[in-house]
Amino acid sequence: MLNYYTYIMAGIQKPRVLISEQNIKKNIKDLAHKITHDYQDKNPLILGVLKGSFIFMADLIRELDFDLQIEFIRLSSYGSLMESPGVVNCDEDISDLVNGRHVLIIEDIIDTGTTLSFLIEQFQAKNPLSVRLCALASKPSRRLIKVEIDYLAFEIPDKFIVGYGLDHDEKYRNLPYIGVIDPKD
Ligand code: PRP
Repeated sequence: MLNYYTYIMAGIQKPRVLISEQNIKKNIKDLAHKITHDYQDKNPLILGVLKGSFIFMADLIRELDFDLQIEFIRLSSYGSLMESPGVVNCDEDISDLVNGRHVLIIEDIIDTGTTLSFLIEQFQAKNPLSVRLCALASKPSRRLIKVEIDYLAFEIPDKFIVGYGLDHDEKYRNLPYIGVIDPKD
C-alpha cells in the first residue's frame, strides 16, 4: 500500500513539518540566554558531536556573546538504519581537550541515551571543571539510560525526525526545519 512514507522515500513528498524554522529560532534564543547567564566569563569548551549537531551548533554559538572555544568530535556507532546504536566509539583523543575546562556538549538528539551517557562518562574521567549537555531534541519515551539534559530546545514524540542537521541515510540534513518521516504514518 502506498502511504505518506512511501511518497517521501520516493522523493515525491517532503517530510512533514514538526518544528518550524521560526520555532527553532525562538527556542535557540531562549537556550542561548540561559547559557550566557551560566557561562559568562568561564570561557567554556563548546563541543559539537558530529555530524548531526553542526547546524544547531552554528546557530546557537552566534547567539552567545562571550569568549568560548569550539571543537567537534566524531562518534562512530553501529546499528540498523532507523534504530539507535548499541555500541559507541569516540574517534578522537579527548583528554587534552577536556582537562581543566568547563565543557558544554552540543548534541542534535538524545534518543536511548546510550551515546551521551558513554560520552559524559568518558569526559568525567578526564578532570574537567564541569560537563553539561545541550540538546536540540529529546525523545524521553525512548530512553534506556538516564541522561541529564541541562539545556533542551524540544521534547518530541517517538517519531523519526530529520532536517536541521538530522539525517535518514545521510539525506535531509539540509532541511531548514525539523520534519517527520515515519513508516507508521
Ligand atoms: C545520533 C545522534 C546521537 C545519537 C543519539 O547520531 O546524533 O549521537 O544518535 O542516539 P542515542 O541516544 O540512542 O544514543 P547518529 O549515529 O545518527 O550520527 P550522526 O549525528 O552523524 O547523524
